[in-house]
Amino acid sequence: MQDLPIRPRRNRKSAAIRNMIRETSLSAAHLVYPMFVQEGDEDTPIASLPGCTRWSVAGIAEECRRLYALGIHCVDLFAVVPEEKKDAAGSEAWNPEGVVPRAIRTIKAAVPAMMVMTDVALDPFNTYGQDGIVKEYEDGSYEILNDETVEALCRQALCHARAGADIISPSDMMDGRIAALRGTLDAEGYTHVSLLSYTAKYASAFYGPFRGALGSAPKFGDKKTYQMDPGNAREALREAWLDESEGADMLMVKPATMYLDVIAALRQQSTLPIAAYHVSGEYLMLKAAAASGWLDEKQTTLETLLSIRRAGADIILTYAAPQVAEWLREV
Ligand code: PBG
Repeated sequence: MQDLPIRPRRNRKSAAIRNMIRETSLSAAHLVYPMFVQEGDEDTPIASLPGCTRWSVAGIAEECRRLYALGIHCVDLFAVVPEEKKDAAGSEAWNPEGVVPRAIRTIKAAVPAMMVMTDVALDPFNTYGQDGIVKEYEDGSYEILNDETVEALCRQALCHARAGADIISPSDMMDGRIAALRGTLDAEGYTHVSLLSYTAKYASAFYGPFRGALGSAPKFGDKKTYQMDPGNAREALREAWLDESEGADMLMVKPATMYLDVIAALRQQSTLPIAAYHVSGEYLMLKAAAASGWLDEKQTTLETLLSIRRAGADIILTYAAPQVAEWLREV
């Protein structure tokens, strides 16, 4: 075996050479931490998402100080809404004294440099647990109304922008919402507020633990008339083209690891930054496997997030963000 001039293993012979030629990096700067905020003074651990908490408004601001120091510089806020505040329209979503606008103001006062992203969709706020406005028919069927929902989303986004949100992130998958949100924000003087669009959000079974955390599971039916079919990739390119032409600043694929091909396809098609949401079920699978003792949590989590970056994501939303920031400090 002397006559073997090409030996790829030479490029793997030491940590120094491996570190020098690694094509993909992962740092805390790439991570966004999704956080849950609730009414009252309690900070309560979330059973379905080990390591995550439903924060009070005061608690989330304190936690953001710690996160910022750890290197997590962007958080994404989700509201936990008590049943008595839910109605058919989801009107709590644009209450200026709701938990999300209050949390934005409190975080911005405590840690002005923290980028605050907010989720825009109606499912935590309406009695149906659907992302849009529901019209029920006498025969028991129902429809998710597109254009009426977009109007409600604009009210919700404006409420967040007025409270100081830096990035609005619509997760509802209604048609035309990016153009409508951009128009509404600009007309009110919020030209600096960014739009991170959930471009290719799939009707996935991996959202279960998140819906458990918020109590936002659909009361009936599913989300298949607006979220994408898991079998489709070309359709994601069409959604990306639309979002881009409607004025999105960043595109997102969700979930992440089952859709690495979609991340790679969007990366090829678009020059915009691409985000990927490592969702609650993906996080819980690693947590549960690590708790069983059969997987190394640190190594598998870092490998998972690196694979999302390798596929082409610039930004990763993950419940593991604080833990990962700590691990990355160790190395
Ligand atoms: C709803 C929303 C969902 C998630 C983010 N925004 C759930 C859903 O669409 O039913 C899921 C996040 C996760 O599972 O981590 N607008």
